[in-house]
Amino acid sequence: MRDIIDKLEERRVQARCGGGEQRIAAQHKRGKLTARERIELLLDAGSFEEFDMFVQHRCTDFGMDKGDKIPGDGVVTGWGTVNGRTVFVFSKDFTVFGGSLSETHAQKITKIQDMAVKMRAPIVGIFDAGGARIQEGVAALGGYGEVFRRNVIASGVIPQISVIMGPCAGGDVYSPAMTDFIFMVRDTSYMFVTGPDVVKTVTNETVTAEDLGGARVHTTKSSVADGAYENDVEALLQMRRLIDFLPANNLDGVPEWPSHDVPNRVDMSLDTLIPDNPNKPYDIKELILKVVDEGDFFEIQATYAANIVTGFARVEGRTVGIVANQPMVLAGVLDADASRKAARFVRFCDAFGIPIVTFVDVPGFLPGTAQEYGGLIKHGAKLLFAYSEATVPLVTIITRKAFGGAYDVMASKHTGADVNYAWPSAQIAVMGAKGAVEIIFRADLGDPEKIAARTKEYEDRFMSPFVAAERGYIDDVIMPHSTRKRIARALAMLRHKEAERPWRKHDNIPL
Ligand code: HXC
Repeated sequence: MRDIIDKLEERRVQARCGGGEQRIAAQHKRGKLTARERIELLLDAGSFEEFDMFVQHRCTDFGMDKGDKIPGDGVVTGWGTVNGRTVFVFSKDFTVFGGSLSETHAQKITKIQDMAVKMRAPIVGIFDAGGARIQEGVAALGGYGEVFRRNVIASGVIPQISVIMGPCAGGDVYSPAMTDFIFMVRDTSYMFVTGPDVVKTVTNETVTAEDLGGARVHTTKSSVADGAYENDVEALLQMRRLIDFLPANNLDGVPEWPSHDVPNRVDMSLDTLIPDNPNKPYDIKELILKVVDEGDFFEIQATYAANIVTGFARVEGRTVGIVANQPMVLAGVLDADASRKAARFVRFCDAFGIPIVTFVDVPGFLPGTAQEYGGLIKHGAKLLFAYSEATVPLVTIITRKAFGGAYDVMASKHTGADVNYAWPSAQIAVMGAKGAVEIIFRADLGDPEKIAARTKEYEDRFMSPFVAAERGYIDDVIMPHSTRKRIARALAMLRHKEAERPWRKHDNIPL
């Protein structure tokens, strides 16, 4: 018996060695952790249960039958816990055939995907891999197809998180692209469909991996990634924090954590947050941090379309999604990028039963040819669509401007929001006073005195929350300092909200 036990231990040690000491050293030299080290950091200490450690590839082409057969075949899979909650995980091992996906490697991943869906628990994929294993041809492509299909089946059922921690290509970017969130590590991770060498061959373009698909590109230009971190350790610790915000699935409801922050806490400084000059910006994040539990806010896509802020926070220990126009960037205007960013976030929250709190200070949609040619109509419609189809509790606070179509879009009463409050500083109108007067009193434009009088008349009538409140479009005009308390009470009242929709196979959101 001792011999058998020793043999098992030997096989385990061999499997844990992955591609060997030299390749592990190279991995560390690049500032990257190994697949197993990453899992250890992500999960609670000692909670990882590994599956399929001894799986090997079955390829015989291109001398693969003569070369090494490394147990595990380039991916470490299993499950464990994050702060006590079950999480499934697969972590690509770059030291084994560059983490590339073979038929058996794919079967390991699909087993974990199927289990995660069955157990209704989140799945985290850690990517550091060069796509389909070239030597396996269509067997690898088929394997990816199986992974992709399961990504889609799991979408909206369990949270799927992808962490990109090395050079990733082909299927190792397409599978993440179908998950809910993608996070990267600066300077060591890249995402591209085809790498710089192929780009050079096909288009004769010379580009570095960083400029083609580094974290900066994907968090500021393409919006493929939702955030980036300095190193593997920071990224994985932040993933633990994110998981704490997320429901395990689409049925369980939001997690509830103990909070020391009382719900009826008032913050007098909010009474002076809005500058006297309506054209002066202020930081909407100050409001978010002062309103949510313990100022704890996990921002999504912080460096992309920063004119809108999206992220997770808690009120009374329960997760909420925050969407907020940011007056500090482009005056908080809605453009195509901001609309798309917020629409995707709203849909995630709605799919997983996360209530949404929306802070509105928006001067309208951004005019111009660049926006129109870029499909502003379709992208703006995404956000309108996302809010209108949402059945989760929706609480909206207008702090200052709510102009034009953007008023409707930003979780107005008309698109289905449940509780709509405005600060006394709110201005709800078709447009700002200057623009309005120049259109409806065009004949008076040559007379500055008349124009000034007309502008004052317009401001007195429309640049307040009361016209909307008189119609019941705003449920109450609230004191800024009591915002947290009013939101907490609204969310408590809405906790068991039920909204019916007629049956359909699925909607047809303008993609
Ligand atoms: C088999 C691979 C591999 C692959 C890398 N390796 N990619 N083996 N199949 N796809 C192996 C290398 O041979 C090498 O083995 C080791 O992994 C490390 O690779 P390097 O090239 O030395 O590393 P690096 O310079 O860091 O470059 C990493 C890389 C590059 C950018 C990922 O390897 C690369 O471009 N690989 C090919 C990417 C690709 O085109 N994949 C197919 C995509 S098609 P040794 O033995 O030397 O350590 C696809 C289809 C899916 O995925 C469908 C999508 C819709």
